[in-house]
Amino acid sequence: MPADARKPLISGNWKMHLNHFEALQTVQKLHYALTKADFDAVDVTVHPPFTDLRTVQTAIDSDHMSIALGAQHCHWEEKGAFTGEVAPVMLAKLQVRYVIAGHSERRQLFGETDEMVNRKVRAILAAGMTPIMCVGETLEEREAGATEEKVVAQVRAGLAGLAREAIGTLVIAYEPIWAIGTGRTATPEDALAVCGLVRAEVGQIARAEAASIRVQYGGSVKATNIAELMAAPDIDGALVGGASLDSDEFARIVQFRLQAR
Ligand code: PGA
Repeated sequence: MPADARKPLISGNWKMHLNHFEALQTVQKLHYALTKADFDAVDVTVHPPFTDLRTVQTAIDSDHMSIALGAQHCHWEEKGAFTGEVAPVMLAKLQVRYVIAGHSERRQLFGETDEMVNRKVRAILAAGMTPIMCVGETLEEREAGATEEKVVAQVRAGLAGLAREAIGTLVIAYEPIWAIGTGRTATPEDALAVCGLVRAEVGQIARAEAASIRVQYGGSVKATNIAELMAAPDIDGALVGGASLDSDEFARIVQFRLQAR
């Protein structure tokens, strides 16, 4: 599959922001700011906090929005004594389509390991949803020349034991940790190099699937830098944090192709 056959995916990770009233307003404003042509060109997801999901789902449903609902996290078990956790099947029931797995904040602040991320990826797929699996290096790792080693190891561990066909449906987000929320974006060249590496590593595991997997870049993506990132052939979209909270800014990010003209 050539790069231009992969439909770009732009995802808004709202993190721990916006209560359900604010979430409703934000998704409605986003819906009004985008056109059918935008949705024909780009898949768009929003990932609100758990408490907002039902509200946003109802809005998407009743207004026939083309925005896909996403979650930020889940557990890997179907049910059980796991206080505070949410099961993939519960999300699927709410028409959640995409779930972020292994965001660096979950890995760094909440102790998620590669093995846990792998279990989640498998559970998300088993529940019929698409994982957005995050990988990326710290500043120390980048400066020590260990970016490749870290990212390759995360991709390998995250995909362990997956069926080939499942691998082709995945989304992997390359998010250099030093670029997240810092205003410091990777250069398109650096982002492209690592996104290419991610795809090459997927190719080692499942050759044919490497062409269909979507690889996003994440880390201080804004309306002013999205077009140059998206011009890179191996970057199929973006995972956007801070800039996705402002629906006008996020809409301009989704409409990157209009700037590129
Ligand atoms: P940022 O976050 O866009 O605020 O840098 C990206 C992310 O953490 O997914």
